[in-house]
Amino acid sequence: MLKVNDNYQKLPGSYLFSTIGKKVAAYTQANPDRKVIRLGIGDVTQPIAPAIIAAMHRAVDEMGKAETFHGYAPDLGYEFLRNAIVENDYRARGCEITADEIFVSDGAKCDSGNIQELFALDNRIAVTDPVYPVYVDSNVMAGRTGTYDEGAGVWSDVIYMPCTMENDFVPAFPKETPDVIYLCFPNNPTGTTITRKQLQTWVDYANKNGALIIYDAAYEAYISEEDVAHSIYECEGARTCAIELRSFSKNAGFTGVRLGFTVVPKELVFEGQPLNAMWARRHGTKYNGAPYIVQRAGEAVYSPEGKAQLKEQVATYMKNAHVIYGGLKEAGYTVFGGINAPYIWLKTPDGMTSWEFFDFLLEKANVVGTPGAGFGPSGEGYFRLTAFGSYENTVEALERIKAL
Ligand code: MLT
Repeated sequence: MLKVNDNYQKLPGSYLFSTIGKKVAAYTQANPDRKVIRLGIGDVTQPIAPAIIAAMHRAVDEMGKAETFHGYAPDLGYEFLRNAIVENDYRARGCEITADEIFVSDGAKCDSGNIQELFALDNRIAVTDPVYPVYVDSNVMAGRTGTYDEGAGVWSDVIYMPCTMENDFVPAFPKETPDVIYLCFPNNPTGTTITRKQLQTWVDYANKNGALIIYDAAYEAYISEEDVAHSIYECEGARTCAIELRSFSKNAGFTGVRLGFTVVPKELVFEGQPLNAMWARRHGTKYNGAPYIVQRAGEAVYSPEGKAQLKEQVATYMKNAHVIYGGLKEAGYTVFGGINAPYIWLKTPDGMTSWEFFDFLLEKANVVGTPGAGFGPSGEGYFRLTAFGSYENTVEALERIKAL
């Protein structure tokens, strides 16, 4: 008889954003007259930029003619896109990355969940806490995390690196030595980041300990400060210890279009096995590539018009971040993030738990945010608001919060 993967039974509750979605749906059903403003999930609201839409139209027309039709994409993605990525995201920043180290995919969420397939089950993973839930949950599904302590909200075999206001949201090296270290900067959910120098210490630490860093740089387009790295490959020695995940969701509004990529340098060799070849094998076997039309859309992100239009989009979201940050401060909240990232992280008031504050904000201001506890035990007592809403809704949400 079929036996199921019982690691799934260990997962507590549903995926964070599904739980929030259900709660908000129940509230709106019970209160149809209320205008609920959603600043919870980090989903973009601005339409796809005109230069990208034009590229997609051209690609659609190509697909309608025998001479320009495209079937299966090459395993790693089309060269036109991988070359544009190499030139713009890496060479322009002085990073040595080649096109055969780029693996185009349908997004960083899938890649961050799938990448752990390359590692043995007895590897210890380390995560910053709070953390994007996919890193932990995908390791739970694989059976790498041990048992769950419901009271403490922690897995026995996961190394947690707390990031709270007490340490300026900068993780310290853990006491136990991890094999795989997940880092995301600028950080989701806290909206804070670390400097290039601090990131270099993590690269040195990983190289010294034979660990691998999975570096999620999905929010790099929001960096405004000079001393923050856009890529981990800006650090010396990163090619021997780091995989980088990148997304087109937040810099180009592709949450519904779907496109991302993973960088696996050829120097990443563990136990004699090159991870680049392993990931190529996995990609070729289990994945048929992002659609041609979408990869052409991705190429347009790097065109001069695309770059100019996206710079404006990012600036609009950062204007929202400014409104949220300033409005919360004015209302007396303790606030973090929002300078190099589209997320604002606040201390919940009056000792409320983060889920209590979620309910309070939904009921009293009809504003949806994300409870910090959903991202890990050190997220308790904090709350996340996203700058990805419309400007008008963001301003209105803050007016409501200030009036509470
Ligand atoms: C978030 O709200 O944390 C993000 O939208 C999740 C994601 O990018 O998958």
